[in-house]
Formats: sequence, structure tokens, C-alpha cells
Amino acid sequence: MAKTRSAYFCQSCGYESAKWLGKCPSCNSWNTFVEEIIEKANTSVPDWKAGSTSTQRSNKPSAIHEITYSEQSRLITPDKEFNRVLGGGIVAGSMVLIGGEPGIGKSTLMLQIALNLPGLKVLYISGEESDQQIKMRAERIESFSKANCYILTETSTQNIFKQIEILQPELVVVDSIQTLYSAHIESTPGSVSQVRECTAELLRFAKESGTPVFLIGHITKDGMIAGPKILEHMVDTVLQFEGDRHHVYRILRAVKNRFGSASELGIYEMQGSGLREVSNPSEILLSQRDEPLSGITISAMLEGLRPMLIETQALVSVSAYGTPQRSATGFDTKRMNMLLAVLEKRCGFKLSTKDVFLNIAGGLRVEDPAIDLAVVVAIISSHEDMPVGTKVCFAAEVGLSGEIRAVNRVEQRIAEAEKLGFEQIFISKYNKKGLDISKYQIEIVPVAKVEEVFHLLFG
Ligand code: TYD
Ligand code: MG
Repeated sequence: MAKTRSAYFCQSCGYESAKWLGKCPSCNSWNTFVEEIIEKANTSVPDWKAGSTSTQRSNKPSAIHEITYSEQSRLITPDKEFNRVLGGGIVAGSMVLIGGEPGIGKSTLMLQIALNLPGLKVLYISGEESDQQIKMRAERIESFSKANCYILTETSTQNIFKQIEILQPELVVVDSIQTLYSAHIESTPGSVSQVRECTAELLRFAKESGTPVFLIGHITKDGMIAGPKILEHMVDTVLQFEGDRHHVYRILRAVKNRFGSASELGIYEMQGSGLREVSNPSEILLSQRDEPLSGITISAMLEGLRPMLIETQALVSVSAYGTPQRSATGFDTKRMNMLLAVLEKRCGFKLSTKDVFLNIAGGLRVEDPAIDLAVVVAIISSHEDMPVGTKVCFAAEVGLSGEIRAVNRVEQRIAEAEKLGFEQIFISKYNKKGLDISKYQIEIVPVAKVEEVFHLLFG
């Protein structure tokens, strides 16, 4: 009989302590310690190749010049957005964690990927839905005559490994990691120690067999992946599936990627028949309008390596209450307040008694500072009630003294704006150096101060 042992775990970062603590010494959060019973490993429970020599094998150091790897080890899926976010396809033996709010479409995305890999044996393990439910969803998505996909509704990792040994799948999807439990650990599924143990077991399987494993993870109310932070450290890639549930657009974002850029982005549209890839995002991020409206501007921004044009809308109105309201959707409110202070102090606009609302189209969250100039112009356009032409776009950062700062990859932004038929783009004059203006059809307007932009646009 194994001896039971219990320990206290911080539910937010996974820090382990022998006694209860009020404040976590690792992540400084309060009241997060919960007692979890850990049972000593029982040798009668089968593990992923338990006791096989490969786990005990000790590695020898090898010279870096002698280590070889093949480029072909990536599995390319028919979904181009998915490939891009992963850095060019699925890497053999990699472990990918996909997080997202409930109902955003994580299960739909992974089932769609699983059904779209003809000729590849895929095992979809669900601890959340019955096989009939999954079949119903699969029928909604498409006809899957060519798919070689198996569904397993199971939550015990030991039973899962037994089935994996029999089936020998080439790709494994787990929906979700929080529903699994390992017999090595006594605590309930979803607890820190269970999530950590199940992930460790699956990780060992992935690395030893070379089979890619996808884990779907729940997220907590503040948007973090539920369970210990260590989970994100263990896996190779962390993807975040996000979007507004009331909008049809979904964004798949790489948060961490050991095999590619962590700033890549994939855009999907949720339809009645599953998720559709959106290959030209600018089309959906720009609303169709013929006449210019005040408070609307377009910026040429970059998400990962992909340039896209996105619409910013601002509304400035007289505040009905004592404290003016400032609210921004898809843009950092602190940054908006900073830009408002710049406009107030440097350009003399009286905005302190005004309500300011800002909205980025399509439910996208923008972090690229190149959107600053478009935000500032949208606010002033609404404040003065003077529209900006529909063929004008912006790509520059605004500094604290109202100076227009340079942004990276400006050529790519200009080329995208030109491709989409824009006639004028405002950039920083520091970006103009070394730029071959003659090769573009679009008019490039270099500027140094925000006042200069307002003067050029509104007179
Ligand atoms: P789901 O994949 O179950 O979300 P998660 O696993 O992240 O919790 O997504 C469910 C939502 O997607 C649900 O509200 C219905 C919608 N949906 C569609 O609009 N079209 C479809 O083809 C499918 C399968 C789901
Ligand atoms: Mg689900």
C-alpha cells in the first residue's frame, strides 16, 4: 500500500509548500493555497512505457556540429492559418497547448484539424463530450469520408496510454487537459498537481514517440490558462484562441512558440459549418463605406509578420457627468489616456471635459504602436467633427512630446496600403530615410509632429 502524502499548492502558479501559506512566496497572490493529496507512485499502475530502458537512458553530450535534424519533420495541415501560427506546420513530437474562453471554438478548431488530415491516423480524446456529441459536431463541419480519425472518451491517462499503444496514432488531441486524471496522484482532475502530472506523462509520450500532442486548456476568469503557470513552461507552444463571442471572427495567436515566431496570428470566421480561414484580413477589418465619416481612421499595422489595415473609430462628446468617461475596446486604455494628455498639453485641445470612446474594428486587440497616429487623428476628427478621406491611412507611433516616431517594417506597411488601393499614407519623417519613394504609387507623407498632421488634414 502506497503511503499517502499531502502538500499545499498555489492554485495560481503551482508553487508547492509543505504547510499552508497565506501569501504565495512565488507569485505573491493571497489565499491561493489548497491542500492536495499526492499518492506515492504505485508500481502496479501502467505508465507510458513504464520501466522501459529509454526513460532511464542517460544522454551523452554531443558536439553541436554533429547534431543533425531534418526539415521535413513538420506536418503541413491544409489549414494555412494554423500552419502559420505554428511557425510552418506541426513539429513531430511537439506539445501544443490551446487556451481560450468557453464556447469560443477550441473543440471545433481541433476537430476540424483532426478531420482534415487525410491519411493520418488521429486520436481525439475527449473528457468533456460524448462520442455522439462529437459525431454531431463533425457532421456540422463537413463530410469526412477521407478522415482517419478515432474518438476516445476517456479521462484516465493510464487507460489512454493503453489505447494509444493499441491504436498507434500519428497525432493526438486532448480535450481538455483539466478533465484528465492520473492514478499516480490522488487529487481531483483539474487540480494543480493532476494537471501537472497528466501533462508530464503526455509530454513524455510525445517526446519519446515523436507524436505531436495538442492539449486544449481552460482559462480562468482573468484570461490565464487554468492550472499552474508551469504548464505553459512545459509545453513547446502556447496558442490563445480569442475573439468576441458576439462577433464571428476568431483570432488564433501564438503566445509562446519554441519552433517559430511568437507574434503570429491566424484569423478565422465562425460559420454554421465550422471555422473558415480568413486569408485577407484587411477585407474584414475595414468597413465598407463610400463617404468619409468623422472619427474614423485607418492604420497600416503589423501583426506578427503580416501587414493589415485596420479601422479605428473614436467618439468624443461632451461629458454629461462630472467625471468624463474614457473607454477603449481593443486598445490599451492607459495608452489612450497618454495620447489624450499629449493632445491636451502639446496641441491645446480641450479634452479633459469630454467623454472619449475608442473602438478597434473586428474585435481585434492591437498592441502595435504604429496605430497611435490613427488613434490620435480619429479622436481629433471626432472632436472637430471633420472627416478624414477614405483613401488615407497612417503608420506611426506618437511620443510624449507629440513627436511622430518611426515604426519597424515600414515598407511592408506601405506596400499593403498600396495594394488595397489607398492613395496617401502618413509616416514618421525618420522612417523616410533610406526609403525609395519613387517605387510606390501611393503618396507618402513624412511628418515630424502631430500638429503638422492636423494642419495637413484639417487645415
Ligand atoms: P466549441 O468548439 O464547443 O467551443 P469550446 O470548445 O471552445 O468551448 O464551440 C462552440 C460554439 O461554436 C457554439 O457556440 C456553436 C458554435 N459553432 C458554430 O457556430 N458553427 C459550427 O459549425 C460549430 C461546430 C460550432
Ligand atoms: Mg470544448
